[in-house]
Amino acid sequence: MLKIRYKNENSYFQYTHQVKIPAHIIDRIKTSALIEEVISDFLPLQKKGQNLWACCPFHDEKSPSFSVAPSKGIFKCFGCGKAGDSITFVMEHEGVSYPEAIRYLADKYHIEIPEGSREEQEEAQAEEKQRESLLIALKFGHDYFQNKLWESDEGKSIGLSYFKERGFHERTIKRFELGYSLDDWHALETQAIAQKYSPDILEEAGLIIKKEGKQYDRFRGRVMFPIHNLSGRVIGFGARTLRKDDKPKYLNSPESLVYEKSKVLYGLFQAKQEIRKQDESLMVEGYTDVISLAQEGIENVVASSGTSLTEGQIKLLKRFSTNITVIYDGDNAGLKAAMRGIDLILAEGMDVRAIALPEGQDPDSQVRKMGGEAFKAYIQREKKDFLRFKTEIYLKETANDPIAKAKAIGEIVRSIIKIPDAIKRMMFFKQCSEMLAVDEQTLVSEGNKILNRERLEEQRRNKRTQQAEKNKDISPPPADGIPLPDISAMPEELLDDIEGLPPITITEKIPLTEDKKESKSISKTSLELYEQELMRLMIRYGYIAIEAEYYVAQYILEEMQVMPTNPHLATIYKTFVEAVQRGERPPSPEQLLHTIDADAQHTASNLLLDRHVISPNWEKRYDIYTPHESDILNKVSYRNLLHLKLRILQKLEKENLEHIRKAESDTAALELLKTHQQLKIAIKEIAELLEIVIYNKN
Ligand code: UTP
Ligand code: MN
Repeated sequence: MLKIRYKNENSYFQYTHQVKIPAHIIDRIKTSALIEEVISDFLPLQKKGQNLWACCPFHDEKSPSFSVAPSKGIFKCFGCGKAGDSITFVMEHEGVSYPEAIRYLADKYHIEIPEGSREEQEEAQAEEKQRESLLIALKFGHDYFQNKLWESDEGKSIGLSYFKERGFHERTIKRFELGYSLDDWHALETQAIAQKYSPDILEEAGLIIKKEGKQYDRFRGRVMFPIHNLSGRVIGFGARTLRKDDKPKYLNSPESLVYEKSKVLYGLFQAKQEIRKQDESLMVEGYTDVISLAQEGIENVVASSGTSLTEGQIKLLKRFSTNITVIYDGDNAGLKAAMRGIDLILAEGMDVRAIALPEGQDPDSQVRKMGGEAFKAYIQREKKDFLRFKTEIYLKETANDPIAKAKAIGEIVRSIIKIPDAIKRMMFFKQCSEMLAVDEQTLVSEGNKILNRERLEEQRRNKRTQQAEKNKDISPPPADGIPLPDISAMPEELLDDIEGLPPITITEKIPLTEDKKESKSISKTSLELYEQELMRLMIRYGYIAIEAEYYVAQYILEEMQVMPTNPHLATIYKTFVEAVQRGERPPSPEQLLHTIDADAQHTASNLLLDRHVISPNWEKRYDIYTPHESDILNKVSYRNLLHLKLRILQKLEKENLEHIRKAESDTAALELLKTHQQLKIAIKEIAELLEIVIYNKN
């Protein structure tokens, strides 16, 4: 497969530029980038009828179901459903961010991006040059280590034979570009200096060390594991000693402009396509685990390499798949790392499963013992969702000790509340209550308590830093002069009220299918009103931060869960989802209007212009709570969200009753009746939260 070509050895994807790309430039890029041209740089396209076809790069297939429609400027795979425009294609295919994809296309179509002030420009250029120099020096080191492994006597007899003894095939050694550093204080240094590499750059790249007027090679007598960035360039090394008594076992490159450890995963460059295809990644601890598994045909593997897992690493992985299985070593340190990793992954809204290997084993030793096929089956059999994984481990540790059990429950609840998706959270509370034989409501309130405490603490912290910043930097007021909600100044009781998780006991995601026949029902009408009201809040206030890096739009999206039925609102909804997924600040109203199509623009401007879209009558009739200047945003959207959920549940209830009436057997009817009960409970709970009585208490 073709990779993006470097211009002057200069990758587009090494760095994120600080300079913002103006909207009109993005528009120009969008209109210039012909989708068939963009994609054919990566895939061979064949014309058939109106469209062009290829085998889909995002999933495994033999016959082409990936189509490109030049007239519409989009691609779509009929096999896996992936679709998008030329920008999305570059993002997905190369695993890069939105600005990176834009830059790549700007360059391809010779569209110049103004780079801010002269000073900023010069600064950016200097940094770019520095990065490039580092990458070139690292490339030198990389070639050097590989050359020593394959060509020198010492490398062959010590390094290569070590790898072979470990069971690495030559093919594997080449694929992971492993190397060897001679057991010599000046071997690399001498050769690099002879080739005119600057000692300063060599030092910054971590290849040599300068100390007390002397300089010498950092890596000596070690086997070398190069670490790649996403575009395949080497940014650092892990170097294993071959002596038993030598410390550290692995010596790693220091951080540099091109190697930020918390944002790099070992093996991701080699694994990314496979992770995408299988829609799952395996997370292991060590370099050799990645390599051994890959050699045995398990290629969707990465390691956090030399650091404990970080949020940045998880975000990186999330671009390729939201399913992670954590396989950690069967010892205490491994378990601890796994537990910590799980919580971080949950917090990113990803689905995490875990496996603890038998005591004393790591994935590398286990796969060598079992072979690839058996190991694959083992993973399938043994992987457990995080809840089962944690519960089993804690229960084993705390058998018959009620105090320890209570503590364990606290730990598990702490993990559950990391999950951003409310409905998933509720599912896990339910499952947890069954597994531990603890009342579900108790777990939920425990969760609420922890959550509120944590948030309060964070807000206090933020407030403190904000105040410190205030004197330096006065931020501009929001566009329409509406004050930002200052939650940190609110009394604790009120926070409980706003942020408590509504205890909705639903076990599935709520499917909201558009059913044309239903469109006359009352609940649909009010449903649309709530959708519209929430979307209005999102358009108007979505870009405002509630907490650091957490915006109103995110809050509404996470709680809303369903796409609006109105197609124009759906377009707007998607725009927000995409911004949030890219980790960007959601668009302000003006930014939004620049990016959406004319119909959606029309809808959005109507919502923005007319403060009283909702007539006072409706406000009374449907209890829609419209914000007034002094209202606190969270509270408004929370209330409207509850309404939305209520309407959805009522709609489901109505449908379910219909099904019960038509049920073919008693057992079927009984099942549906159970659902009916659940829905009723959920409806009642929400109604209580809204303090409106829908049902007579019975
Ligand atoms: P392990 O000690 O489990 O090593 O460290 P390993 O991967 O099983 O290696 P072999 O099989 O003994 O060769 C796991 C990972 O932790 C990091 C490395 O990334 C290593 O692969 N590590 C370990 C270090 O960075 N420094 C160390 O000193 C040890
Ligand atoms: Mn090992």
